Amino acid sequence: MSQPMRQIVVSVNGTEQQADVPDDMHLLEFLRETLGLTGTKCGCGYGACGACTVLLDGTPVRACTTHLSRAEGKSVETIEGLARDGQLSPIQQAFLEHEAFQCGFCTPGMILEVCGFLARLDGRVPEQAEVRQALRQHLCRCGSYQRIVAAVISAATKQSRSA
Ligand code: FES
Ligand code: FES
Repeated sequence: MSQPMRQIVVSVNGTEQQADVPDDMHLLEFLRETLGLTGTKCGCGYGACGACTVLLDGTPVRACTTHLSRAEGKSVETIEGLARDGQLSPIQQAFLEHEAFQCGFCTPGMILEVCGFLARLDGRVPEQAEVRQALRQHLCRCGSYQRIVAAVISAATKQSRSA
């Protein structure tokens, strides 16, 4: 018996994408396998590690547990969409400057979570404890947490100065 299919229309990194996909497809599979956007990582596949985090209409979500139907007509942003004109986004740049990664596997999900977190703060620079709280459900096997927190505070400070 053939698999039930559905048509999906979703904006990904500012480009409208239309595709016929299996009815039970999740957002992570769509991004990585249908669109070839492999910057979004699959760590656990069941919502526990945060590696697959992307923005759905500006809100961080776990792509591995987000059914693709939830993205219908909405806007998805992935790590591939953050740089502008060849320039890293301020958060990406801060991660680089603070060497806030080793293998980098957790990094795209961390950065997208931080995008949503800093947007919610609306220009306020967070305390370290707030950053840890915001990233509490993101796992980094390399243990780069201290540098990640420093990078987030640095990015927030720069953003507040330029606001
Ligand atoms: S791969 Fe989605 S939370 Fe781990
Ligand atoms: S940098 Fe390797 S898992 Fe976080």
